[in-house]
Amino acid sequence: MMSVKVHFLPDNVTVTAEVGEPLLQVADRAGLSIPTGCMMGSCHACEVELGDGSSLCACISAIPAGQNPLVVNLYVDPTW
Ligand code: FES
Repeated sequence: MMSVKVHFLPDNVTVTAEVGEPLLQVADRAGLSIPTGCMMGSCHACEVELGDGSSLCACISAIPAGQNPLVVNLYVDPTW
């Protein structure tokens, strides 16, 4: 198991998570709630932006390896 520090913006909350842990679960542990809809990766209600500029759907995503700390920005400009 590999631990990663996950830093959530804009709330500035950092928690420790394991690589592969569901992102929604980690956000929940940080006391944050990510809005969700379909929970299947198609509505993009749960979209977050990572520190490397990529965005992903939190509902179907796990903590990736390779970024430590991993920055997760919960505020993403809706493009839909
Ligand atoms: S809840 Fe719809 S894409 Fe995640």
